[in-house]
Amino acid sequence: MEDNIRNVRKIISIANQKGGVGKTTTAISLAAALASEEKRTLLIDADPQGNATSGLGINKAEIRDKNVYHAMIGDADACDVITSTSVPLLDIMPSTQDLIGVEVEFVTMKNREQKLKNILRNIDRPYDYIIIDCPPSLGFLTVNSLVASDYLIIPLQCEYFALEGLGQLLNTVKLVQVRLNPSLSLAGILLTMFDVRNGISHRVAEEVRKYFGSNVFSTIIPRNVRLSECPSYGLPITLYDSASRGAISYIQFAQEILADGRT
Ligand SMILES: Nc1ncnc2c1ncn2[C@@H]1O[C@H](COP(=O)(O)OP(=O)(O)OP(=O)(O)O)[C@@H](O)[C@H]1O
Ligand SMILES: [Mg+2]
Repeated sequence: MEDNIRNVRKIISIANQKGGVGKTTTAISLAAALASEEKRTLLIDADPQGNATSGLGINKAEIRDKNVYHAMIGDADACDVITSTSVPLLDIMPSTQDLIGVEVEFVTMKNREQKLKNILRNIDRPYDYIIIDCPPSLGFLTVNSLVASDYLIIPLQCEYFALEGLGQLLNTVKLVQVRLNPSLSLAGILLTMFDVRNGISHRVAEEVRKYFGSNVFSTIIPRNVRLSECPSYGLPITLYDSASRGAISYIQFAQEILADGRT
């Protein structure tokens, strides 16, 4: 049974060690958009900041003893730390700042990079997609996410220095592919916070497409104030304002992912 379930589900990391580029916004919005396309989806908050958790309206006090940290240290079963959300078909494995502790606790542990992968193996629910929101670093939690994933989406903010650090990220991906997870592949780069009126946005988008060609998704996420408002209401953009440009672009992105055939 489990093997069947594991074979059909697709696990996607949203990662970039640069801070504030739209990882969490993309993770929440893509997960909610996939759920609205009737895909059973699980969002994993692999960031101790817990932004995906609060962005989906989960009260952190209520999951203090039941979150990713407890699954990782083996104090709880993976399925016991999964919580439903206000979005039909979307569940979350939430996080709190406790997650900072795992790196230190696992310092001497064997196969420490496989921890999250093993947790996901133990989830016997029939999810179509598992989306992992990574922290802004290339440390233990991001490596664990990449080891557990089939695909990587890299959000890239359409601003100066967008490409800074990208080489380092791609090197980490290569190392993970060679040593830990040969089935990881780059799904693509997603241009985020694009501002039509800003020349820099256009130049960055052009440059990224020149270097990365078909590895850049066709969908571009615009800068949209509704996207920055919705976390404070604990709602994904698809529920907060389904007619906003932010919601429409993330729905389009989910459709691009679904049409890809690979992802
Ligand atoms: N397309 C957008 N339009 C407007 N604001 C956005 C957009 N995408 C993200 N934001 C806002 O920009 C800020 C950073 O976004 P987000 O939290 O998604 O980035 P992140 O990469 O997850 O950050 P961190 O590295 O801290 O985890 C947030 O305040 C978010 O609401
Ligand atoms: Mg984030």
